[in-house]
Amino acid sequence: MKNPLAHNPWARNPWFETVAEAQRRARKRLPKSVYSALLAGSEKDVTVSDNVAAFSEIGFAPHVVGLADDRDLATTVLGMPLSFPVLISPTGVQAVHPDGEVAVARAAAARGIGMGLSSFASKPIEEVVAVNPQTLFQLYWMGTRDEMLRHMRRAQEAGAKGLVLTLDWSFSMGRDWGSPAIPEQMDRAAMIKFGPEGIMRPRWLLEYAKRGELPDLTTPNLMPPDGPAPTFFGAYGQWMSSALPTWDDIAWVRSQWDGPLVLKGVVRVDDARRAAAVGVDAISVSNHGGNNLDSTPASIRALPAIVDAVGDRVEILLDGGIRRGGDVVKALALGARAVMIGRAYLWGLAANGQAGVENVLDVLRSGVDSAVMGLGKNSVHALTADDVVVPPGFRRDLGVGAGAGVVSVAD
Ligand SMILES: Cc1cc2nc3c(=O)[nH]c(=O)nc-3n(C[C@H](O)[C@H](O)[C@H](O)COP(=O)(O)O)c2cc1C
Repeated sequence: MKNPLAHNPWARNPWFETVAEAQRRARKRLPKSVYSALLAGSEKDVTVSDNVAAFSEIGFAPHVVGLADDRDLATTVLGMPLSFPVLISPTGVQAVHPDGEVAVARAAAARGIGMGLSSFASKPIEEVVAVNPQTLFQLYWMGTRDEMLRHMRRAQEAGAKGLVLTLDWSFSMGRDWGSPAIPEQMDRAAMIKFGPEGIMRPRWLLEYAKRGELPDLTTPNLMPPDGPAPTFFGAYGQWMSSALPTWDDIAWVRSQWDGPLVLKGVVRVDDARRAAAVGVDAISVSNHGGNNLDSTPASIRALPAIVDAVGDRVEILLDGGIRRGGDVVKALALGARAVMIGRAYLWGLAANGQAGVENVLDVLRSGVDSAVMGLGKNSVHALTADDVVVPPGFRRDLGVGAGAGVVSVAD
């Protein structure tokens, strides 16, 4: 009998050619509440939309003759060699795929790039570093200094190559599109409630069934010495009730972390100057992918002013809205050393596990290569602002107004 799947292109070829297609497949594959949690924009989605739309406003200025046959895409970030200028941005990927961050880390290692691991991740840092030694551990400011120190020590002992301190969260809860319901843990009550959603997504369910597991909604990297790993919401509650950090606290983290330190979530020039003065090694110009304070401008709009202010002292990364290799090249042309990606790899992971993340990285890499070629460059390091067309009024120079640039620590 003829194979009924013979004409189904997915059955034979799970490869996808764009991040947009990875997103479509993720939407079809994931239970609705899990997919919505990945979209996750806050309030009216102004920032989520601007993160993506702003890249479309930037044009290229390509050459046509004398293009380079060989193009070098490799770079380094914080001393880590990357085969092209992309890093995995830390995200908690509970319930997307049973292999979670380990699959992402394997894919990143297979493609020669680094991995950012969230403190809210579903896999322990030891397992992630084992498959990708180029791992940066991400922390929020939560708990006491002693607890922060314990998390840092564990990451250091596990072999993390750097610490990412994410500071741009303001606990903005409301979403005009309605937040997805997420259970505290996968117990009997949750299975009854969410069972129908899972049954509607048999391929997602099958991945868990194959391993005899249920989605793990705990945060093993925040495990106390004397108890089990907190649930995602338990950890979130602790974070919400923690005192907010001061610049002295950031200086304290700097003094305690013996290795590269990244401050993630900076969009203002005055904050970037303070971060440089405190001694961070890198900044990620970021608005948390639009999940946080809605109406913060696209991170790519804030990038040039920060590069101008501190680009000679700290490495500047950018995250938010990267959906294609051309976006990476635009960010590089405006002064970023590399970018970090969030949703793009989460969609790849949902669509096809580790292979799906590798697929996303291949799509981005080939897009970077095409753009570098078209722009007549032989290396990502040769990109300049002259390669792109930026419309008037595109930039948002935040934190340069009267009094905004005052820095108390000598820089
Ligand atoms: C579902 C989801 C979870 C995230 N979790 C974290 C996190 O735990 N820590 C963190 O620093 N950033 C987190 N982020 C933000 C990402 O690291 C990154 O800044 C953002 O996704 C970049 O935007 P993009 O998704 O448009 O690429 C999360 C983002 C998403 C979409």
